[in-house]
Amino acid sequence: MPTLLIENLASGALPVPAGATLLSALQTAGHDWLHACGGRGRCTTCRLEVVEGLDLLTPLTEAELRYRAAGRLLAHERLTCQARLCEGAVTGRVPHATKLPHVSYSD
Ligand code: FES
Repeated sequence: MPTLLIENLASGALPVPAGATLLSALQTAGHDWLHACGGRGRCTTCRLEVVEGLDLLTPLTEAELRYRAAGRLLAHERLTCQARLCEGAVTGRVPHATKLPHVSYSD
């Protein structure tokens, strides 16, 4: 099964079930992850800085393309409520701006 590793969270790689968004996989694994619009692609609070495996993720959605064009989603970032992973292993980080105050991060 594909996996997602968040470098600055204290946990190992988590499984990403077929067809699931990264956000869904994170929540299923018990991670509290900012997602202000409820996963509808209407904010950028759920974004992930991708360190490795960017090319393994599903293509950018219309919402992501819109934010990319507006400069609100960087080239190495994806919205976890939009991106899915079909195979392989992706490594990423929680961006500083979207860290939750009650969660412990390793940086
Ligand atoms: S939760 Fe708002 S864009 Fe993903």
